[in-house]
Amino acid sequence: MTDRIFSAPTTINLELTEICNSRCRHCYNFWRQEGGHRISLSNDSVDRLVKMFVDAGVFHVVLSGGEPLCTFDLLEYALKRLKEGGLTVSCNSNLMLATDEKMRRLREAGLDHVLTSLNSHDPAVNDYMVNQPGAFNRIIAGIELARRNDIRVSANMIVCRQNMDHVYQTGRLAANLGCQRIFGTRVVPCVTLRDVHGTDYDMEKKDALYVLDELVRVKDDAGIMIGSLVSYPLCLLGDLERYADFVGRGCPAQRGHRMNINANGDGHACVHESISYGNVFQEGLVAVWRKFREWHAGEYLHAQCRSCAFEHVCNSGCRMSALALNGSLHGPDPLMCGPEGMTKPYKLVYDESFHLRVKQGVRFRVPQRIRFRREDGYCLLNIRWANTIMVENSVAQFLERHKDAHTTFDCAEFGSERSALLAELYFKDAVESDDIAYDDERSRVGLSADLTVSR
Ligand SMILES: C[S@@+](CC[C@H](N)C(=O)[O-])C[C@H]1O[C@@H](n2cnc3c(N)ncnc32)[C@H](O)[C@@H]1O
Repeated sequence: MTDRIFSAPTTINLELTEICNSRCRHCYNFWRQEGGHRISLSNDSVDRLVKMFVDAGVFHVVLSGGEPLCTFDLLEYALKRLKEGGLTVSCNSNLMLATDEKMRRLREAGLDHVLTSLNSHDPAVNDYMVNQPGAFNRIIAGIELARRNDIRVSANMIVCRQNMDHVYQTGRLAANLGCQRIFGTRVVPCVTLRDVHGTDYDMEKKDALYVLDELVRVKDDAGIMIGSLVSYPLCLLGDLERYADFVGRGCPAQRGHRMNINANGDGHACVHESISYGNVFQEGLVAVWRKFREWHAGEYLHAQCRSCAFEHVCNSGCRMSALALNGSLHGPDPLMCGPEGMTKPYKLVYDESFHLRVKQGVRFRVPQRIRFRREDGYCLLNIRWANTIMVENSVAQFLERHKDAHTTFDCAEFGSERSALLAELYFKDAVESDDIAYDDERSRVGLSADLTVSR
């Protein structure tokens, strides 16, 4: 399928409040520098936003900040309204203000996942990074409270020079605490930093690869899932099979999936961006969205990446890191190695015998969690949470019919010429089967991977 530009975002990162209980040294929130009064959304503005999201067909909202637990009632209100609107919701929180009662109420309101910030297993390093003594103990207690109330937790470790040697131990700690995943997210230097070169936020390529190796090691040893919320250029990874967990996410801003909305309603294509493209309360969600066109049309790709066979998966790495370290959104990602860095391509489906079994007539069904959105000439299929892929209309219609009727189908009915697509949908968890037992979710293609499309 060729490149398309979506009619509206599929995922929103919504900053409920600017209020925060910590002052992380690495934080990307440019408005922290401005001082003065910290604003939050009101219940009325949440209502207006939810209506805009529902009307535009947004699938998933990440409630973030600031620190959402600083405005607990607002967080609970937004969660309930969004769930009523049929959206899935996640929350970014440092969990330091968690209590048993608050976690229970959020769980009851429908929260099933929190991305928390855990930057090191070493309390001193963690507390230095978040700029607050005692933070480590409160985060650990918060993770335990969330888990006790049946909320899934992923730990996000922002990796810079201070904590790059702590990845393995922090991953082990996260696994012991019951976190399902540890993200070793490369730090994106805040736009307000003047000269990043030589600072803690200027990672060398060998250091970045060491971090990825440590993540792979902790996955093997502790069984915890791994990833990064900011993509690494694929030519840095080189061996895409070894580093499969870091392939496929690409840049959500360039892929045209995500929009960030500040607590004042200003919209950004990338969460790390300070430029506002307009205010959604004044102009409407879709009008602001249309102003992200340069991101969506690939105009910020680095020139050397345009001829790369992996450009559509990699999206030229992180554009905001290129801006911070090389002075331009069009510049090279500082971790980029160029085409010669690529040593082993990515294998979408590991088990070739699976294709044979698909052709032999195993039956599939479409889970009720699957959501569809019509676009101009094609369809978006949301697998769960923020995982959305593009499919042809005929495929969407076929799947939607079986979803609505709760019926099963085999490859012959799906179209034997499309058996590879059916296998791909299965590995992405878009269809399920009782006839096959690929229970280990980690053996599936990373849920965020979407290798079928570009932006
Ligand atoms: C801005 S925080 C707000 C939510 C909450 N207060 C927290 O700390 O988790 C949202 C996420 O952005 C991540 N983050 C902050 N600064 C970053 C940076 N410079 N580069 C990459 N991610 C960053 C945090 O680790 C956190 O997971």
